[in-house]
Amino acid sequence: MCGIFCLLSVSPTQFEWDKTVHEHLKRRGPNLSQDLTVGGTNPCYQCLFSAHVLHMRGLLTPQPVQDKTGNVLLWNGEIFGGLPVMTEENDTAVVSQRLSSCSSPSEILSVLSTLRGPWGFVYYQKAGDYLWFGRDFLGRRSLLWKFDAEVSALTLTSVAAHSSGPAPSAWHEVPAAGVYRIDLKVVTEAGAVTFEIYPWAHGGNDLVSSCNQTILESVPNGCTAVMNQPGLTLTAPVCPLNRAIPKSLHKEEIHPNTHSCVKDLEQLLASKEKSDETKRLIDFLSEAVRRRVQSLPFRVQDNSPVSNDHASIAILFSGGLDSMILAALADRHIPAHQPIDLLNVAFKLQVPKKQKESAKKLVKHKNKPQESKTDGADSQTSSPFDVPDRVTGRAGLKELQDLNPDRRWNFVEINVTKEELQETRQERICHLVHPLDTVLDDSIGCAVWFAARGAGFITEDSDQRPFTSSAKVILTGIGADEQLAGYSRHRVRFMMSGYEGLIQELAMELSRIPSRNLGRDDRVIGDHGKEARFPYLDEDVVSYLNSLPVWEKADLSLPRGVGEKLLLRLAAKQLGLGQSAVLPKRAMQFGSRIAKMEDNREKASDKCTRLLTE
Ligand SMILES: *[C@@H]1O[C@H](CO)[C@@H](O)[C@H](O)[C@H]1NC(C)=O
Ligand SMILES: *[C@@H]1O[C@H](CO)[C@@H](O)[C@H](O)[C@H]1NC(C)=O
Ligand SMILES: *[C@@H]1O[C@H](CO)[C@@H](O)[C@H](O)[C@H]1NC(C)=O
Ligand SMILES: *[C@@H]1O[C@H](CO)[C@@H](O)[C@H](O)[C@H]1NC(C)=O
Repeated sequence: MCGIFCLLSVSPTQFEWDKTVHEHLKRRGPNLSQDLTVGGTNPCYQCLFSAHVLHMRGLLTPQPVQDKTGNVLLWNGEIFGGLPVMTEENDTAVVSQRLSSCSSPSEILSVLSTLRGPWGFVYYQKAGDYLWFGRDFLGRRSLLWKFDAEVSALTLTSVAAHSSGPAPSAWHEVPAAGVYRIDLKVVTEAGAVTFEIYPWAHGGNDLVSSCNQTILESVPNGCTAVMNQPGLTLTAPVCPLNRAIPKSLHKEEIHPNTHSCVKDLEQLLASKEKSDETKRLIDFLSEAVRRRVQSLPFRVQDNSPVSNDHASIAILFSGGLDSMILAALADRHIPAHQPIDLLNVAFKLQVPKKQKESAKKLVKHKNKPQESKTDGADSQTSSPFDVPDRVTGRAGLKELQDLNPDRRWNFVEINVTKEELQETRQERICHLVHPLDTVLDDSIGCAVWFAARGAGFITEDSDQRPFTSSAKVILTGIGADEQLAGYSRHRVRFMMSGYEGLIQELAMELSRIPSRNLGRDDRVIGDHGKEARFPYLDEDVVSYLNSLPVWEKADLSLPRGVGEKLLLRLAAKQLGLGQSAVLPKRAMQFGSRIAKMEDNREKASDKCTRLLTE
């Protein structure tokens, strides 16, 4: 993960760094910072490129990369497929070489269409004076833009800063609807910035029209966007969503009865057909996890035992279905003598009485009698940090220890107090979440920031000691709920408008995941000089899930804890997981109890006043 920044100006201006933005960029890329300015007098423009590199792959490659002909690349991404990148190679150099050999737009689009993995980039194509930029199809890397009309300057950056004052923010996320090209000659002549859009498309034109709307809404004031004249498109790296509707609504005989969850699943698993699909999902997910846990900095001393003390991989871990599957699959691909860090965040419960109530509720959710007993014991010696995700996290840890007793699983208990939350939000997190601004963005942004920092405690031989995860790669389970109908709103939609409604909801959610989640999560996790990786959003996983008819992925006529994300639950069973396979979805803001910590009468979609700086 890197921090990239580009300032395009057409009038000669004295550039001064916004100190906060510069600091945030450096935190994303602590290993090397470098600036480069290119420009000309005819046409007259100036581009300042600033790159801050986090060393992740191959040998450290300085950025901005300038090739022999003067093209400049800023690259914030990872190539997990599409182009060959050897272990000792740096993917930035590989992309730069490929782009260098392109002259026409369609050649550039073809290179970008080949890439598999997350990326955000800015590319200065010297011949013809063009500036290209954009994000990958799923928007897994952040890129923001703003235009300052007074000095005719366009800024692109991985991360910005929240500024106080009543004026509406000038920053917007660059929509992940395609890539953009600015003709610098035209900008110079017209004194205004126009983007040509090269949208992602599946071959059909459905995406083009929807991306049109998204783009128009976030084009910075003072700039215009137009579809590129020849109508060229990028080829989407995933297949379109299967919108089939079952011919006869298949009625399940199983009636809502949470106590028989495990048995229901086993009955379903027994059916051969289900098992085949489950097996294929596991294969795709396993490969997605493998690529993400094995693409690591190239270390000459890799064989030395010293490097085995520290985990290379951490997982945002609630003990729920999505994170348990990631842990079980990571276990397959990380050498057994290396630890894996499980990051579990809890926000201090404010009112002890309420805490007891929620502990009781938790006991009710449990199905195994012996676990209920443990919970009962817990509530006597209860800690204000025993939030629902902590309780399921501990249970999940036990399952993983049973699955592989030889592995050191570092269950990192990250306890956050209200004071620390409020201080850190003002100082740092509000800038990272920006320009997103809702109560939900605040809750998730803060919870993910503390979890990703990885500073907490681990328990060894019943002793607690401070522990800070040093893993540079963090796996997160985002994308599972959006694709496999994990949210309760899917159930509501299904009840109200059947399969058709459910499919529409799923299509909409996958298309907005870049703007709702991914840019924000990338900025928040990147702030620790760590890199977020999203196995459920691997192109092959998305394609496979998109290709399945919706009733293979979820069966919302089955009870909660079974029907939603059904296919994933079957996968969990097949991987040997137990109770975690039948946990109902619990959103992070509730599981970690951050939503309870402050004003809990708010709606998730309200603007969050706490994100405003003083
Ligand atoms: C990159 O920076 C991190 C954090 O400062 C440091 O731990 C790591 O050793 C650096 N890597 C290289 C190759 O310099
Ligand atoms: C990055 O990789 C290229 C080859 O792909 C190599 O020529 C270059 O030296 C590498 N950069 C560094 C700093 O190692
Ligand atoms: C949006 O679509 C219309 C036609 O449907 C087209 O004329 C216009 O250029 C498009 N705008 C953008 C920004 O793509
Ligand atoms: C963190 O919270 C857990 C409860 O989940 C508690 O057992 C532990 O003592 C806490 N650690 C610290 C240092 O507060």
